[in-house]
Amino acid sequence: MSLKIAVFISGRGSNLNAIIQAIADKRLDATIQCVVSNDAEAPGLLIAKQHGIETFALDHKGMKRVEHERVILEHLKTYEIDYIVLAGYMRVISPSFLKQWHDERGYFKVVNIHPSLLPSFPGVSGYEDAFNYGVKVSGVTVHLVDEEVDRGIILAQEPFPRFPDDTLQTFCARGLSVEHALYPAVLQQIAKEGIRLTPKKTKVESKK
Ligand code: GAR
Repeated sequence: MSLKIAVFISGRGSNLNAIIQAIADKRLDATIQCVVSNDAEAPGLLIAKQHGIETFALDHKGMKRVEHERVILEHLKTYEIDYIVLAGYMRVISPSFLKQWHDERGYFKVVNIHPSLLPSFPGVSGYEDAFNYGVKVSGVTVHLVDEEVDRGIILAQEPFPRFPDDTLQTFCARGLSVEHALYPAVLQQIAKEGIRLTPKKTKVESKK
């Protein structure tokens, strides 16, 4: 099926751009219904606008998380959306938001790309943390979003080497080019086959 997505960004938007290019090149059967940002100044919003994609920016500063998310959710209801695609969205999404966005098996229909081989180096500076740690191999992870930050089911991982003469800059650039190939490919896989998972086990209450 053709995938209808909302892409969430906070900054540069190079992954958004890679997704747009993959759709244009017919490597990805998807439509971006809307690009959402928590920063009205995010450069990625311009990329969306240049391609005629609707944008919705709502600064989170000065707003409670639940209120910020409520307004975004309300806006998303005006579209038909299969998946929310986080592409450098630097906000934790709360369980109350996620619970309103789940499939019939209990999985949240939110995917994320993270700049490390999870579960190593979660958080906001994956490349920097891996580089400073001195890894010889790093990588990129695409995963389903869960209530726990950077802990959802892993859909794909792609490693890349750190070379002895790497600077943080060359290391990040290598990782980013991996991201730009991997994210559209995983989304295409979802468009083609969905996500093959067994239903989530419901918690069994223990008798006292
Ligand atoms: C990407 O490297 C992405 O993996 C990372 O932010 C960058 C966004 O770049 N995401 C995270 O760190 C999420 N915790 P982009 O705006 O150019 O796509």
